[in-house]
Amino acid sequence: KIVPVILSGGIGSRLWPLSRDHFPKQCYALVDAHYSLLQQTMLRTLSLEVADPIVVCNEDHRFLIAQQLQSIGVKNARIVLEPKGRNTAPAIALAALEALRSHADGALMLVLPADHVIRDIAAFETTIKQAVELAKDDALVTFGVQPTRPETGYGYIRAGERFSVMEFVEKPNLEKAQFYLDSGEYLWNSGMFLFRAKAFLGELAVHRDDIFQAVNNAYQQRAEDLDFVRVDAILFAQCPEESIDFAVMERTKKAKVVPYAGDWSDIGAWDALYNYADKDTNNNVLLGDVMAEGSTNCLVRSESRLVAAVGVQDLVIVETADAVLVMDKNNAQDVKQIVKRIQAEG
Ligand code: GDD
Ligand code: MG
Repeated sequence: KIVPVILSGGIGSRLWPLSRDHFPKQCYALVDAHYSLLQQTMLRTLSLEVADPIVVCNEDHRFLIAQQLQSIGVKNARIVLEPKGRNTAPAIALAALEALRSHADGALMLVLPADHVIRDIAAFETTIKQAVELAKDDALVTFGVQPTRPETGYGYIRAGERFSVMEFVEKPNLEKAQFYLDSGEYLWNSGMFLFRAKAFLGELAVHRDDIFQAVNNAYQQRAEDLDFVRVDAILFAQCPEESIDFAVMERTKKAKVVPYAGDWSDIGAWDALYNYADKDTNNNVLLGDVMAEGSTNCLVRSESRLVAAVGVQDLVIVETADAVLVMDKNNAQDVKQIVKRIQAEG
């Protein structure tokens, strides 16, 4: 059986003012009117034969996440709480330890970021089933997506014969990313993984024993209440901060890659949401109580009152009860700066 492991640690500050410390982006119904990104991620796994899922998140979000899981009928999730996130290598290691404890030895972990959007469930399912065979042989399986631009925020995988990984490069500079794109030999790392808990922990111990030891110490001193598994805050804070990509995937010889041809999107910023969403005849994405007149290529989202856009182009307008964002769509990455200033100015 497959144990779904959902990583729900990020805040998503580039989606301010929607995404906040106390209500992260994966808990919003961003692209689907009914379900949040987290709920969609969970629902996506239900067509596979799955065991009780594990969600790893910040302890501040525990009730929000527990409630979102319950409202879609997921009752037996184990929710592992991080006092403060240490990036994905420690988060996945915690999930692996929890999987070994609560599931049989052979359990496979399907690691899924909570903030991806996938519409083609059939392609997702087929690809996972293909990967299961490789993961049974203790491979660390990645899912490769055909790149379309020299994105520097992703990992790149050079795929060899029979699912082998010749090279894994996390977040290359632009020059390298362009070279990888032009060569036609590289795939993007989708950020989803499939492996046995034991296989992952083994490779982590080989390549970053410091992380393995720190996580293991914090997990052994855990406290449990209800569905929550609370790791020791002081011990976990001593764990080095690193992503699975740098800590393990760039170094391991056990990586495999299965091509994933279905749709896939990492909704990191407002322009990504605009690109992904369905547009009206004026190429606008209008969400909520919104009117547009003589406006094109805009994303307008309202939460608490009527918002009207007249004669404007390429704008992102996001209204919430206590903040309004008006932004040139081409500056979508810069909203992070506002969040930093708000945090600094308190
Ligand atoms: N629980 C927990 N704790 N989750 C975390 C933490 C943490 O400390 N840090 C990040 N996450 C979650 C995020 O919420 C997200 O769902 C997922 O782990 C991936 O983290 P990101 O920070 O979004 O990674 P990235 O987008 O920069 O890079 C990864 O994904 C790319 C594809 O989207 C890498 O795997 C790349 O290689 C990949 O191309
Ligand atoms: Mg991401």
